[in-house]
Amino acid sequence: MMYVSSLKLTNFRNFDQAEFAFDRAKTAIWADNARGKSNVLEGLYFLALAKSGRGARDRDVLKWGADYFVIEAHIEREDHSFSIRIAYDPRVGKKQAFLAEIPLSRLSDLIGAFNAVLFSPEDVDLVLREPVQRRRILDILVSQSSSSYLADLEGYQRVLAQRNRLLKDRSSALLSHPEQVEPWNEQLAELGGRIVSRRIEALHEIQPLLTEYYRSIAPTSEKMQASYRSPISMETRDRGQDILFEALTTRLPQEVKLRYTLTGPHRDNLIFTLDGKAVHQFASKGQLKTVLLSWKLAEATFLERQTGWRPVLLMDDVFSELDPKRAQAVLNMIPNFGQVVVTSARDPDLDFEAHGFRMLGL
Ligand SMILES: Nc1ncnc2c1ncn2[C@@H]1O[C@H](COP(=O)(O)OP(=O)(O)O)[C@@H](O)[C@H]1O
Ligand SMILES: [Mg+2]
Repeated sequence: MMYVSSLKLTNFRNFDQAEFAFDRAKTAIWADNARGKSNVLEGLYFLALAKSGRGARDRDVLKWGADYFVIEAHIEREDHSFSIRIAYDPRVGKKQAFLAEIPLSRLSDLIGAFNAVLFSPEDVDLVLREPVQRRRILDILVSQSSSSYLADLEGYQRVLAQRNRLLKDRSSALLSHPEQVEPWNEQLAELGGRIVSRRIEALHEIQPLLTEYYRSIAPTSEKMQASYRSPISMETRDRGQDILFEALTTRLPQEVKLRYTLTGPHRDNLIFTLDGKAVHQFASKGQLKTVLLSWKLAEATFLERQTGWRPVLLMDDVFSELDPKRAQAVLNMIPNFGQVVVTSARDPDLDFEAHGFRMLGL
């Protein structure tokens, strides 16, 4: 198990200076609207990704009017404890991460030091309805278990942007000399093949967990599944690079016309279904929330299996909009996870203390 024992926020969101102590037990942050509950979870999750898990830019999380922000925390693990500090100062245009007081040369070096899973209510609509957001939650899942995945993703984005620029700038030349684009095709196929096969493997691993967790929360017999739509499949993933290279070659005339790259992990889709029907098309808000929740719980179990450490589970406003049966089922599952921090506006129906939560007011 891995847990955060203290968090100090300086000029982060609505906090000038705030310190929070946590123990390995469950914590419920319990306060009225707009007190900063979501911001505390965002600050905790920042320690895992070195950026906002809600997709906010650094200058947006900087307290309005402040010059810099600092997030500091102590992390306890069975084998040792260490500190993480992330400091951002736009005056020097820079964000710097420190691990056990040692400055890291790249922010991505922080990933993997501290693992967390964030359930954010803003994601319920966004993530489940938009393909680009569904790819993002898949990338978040794989990134924390593999630092090479993140490096591949960044490399892929860079090469993709270059290839798309070529398609725009040299469209007619490329049609008569398609070999000019080949070096980019090779790089994209290599990076893309690795990315897609990691995604497919991760999804294969969490599939049974998704189905199981959904069934535990929803008082129905619907079966939840997630499927990855791509020219590459579980069976062909060892040949992924060749499949992508082939597609990049044969679709060039069409790409020249449209001026962007049509094949690769940036075009694949992740579809969630309930009894075979796509949730982004028909599911109710409560069903969507249950789907995302099942995904996040599965992510926590996946990360524990991949890294050997139970991640910290951060659940923002998870209980609103869930009917009492579903809320109760979630509360009953929480003991199976490690450190858990939930937030809730005052909700008299939920007795967190009876479920072993320590209450933290803001
Ligand atoms: N960069 C920022 N600087 C100062 N205040 C901010 C910043 N970003 C958000 N806030 C404020 O934080 C408050 C919301 O905090 P939030 O964590 O969403 O509240 P809660 O989850 O408790 O409802 C709002 O009042 C908002 O105006
Ligand atoms: Mg909130």
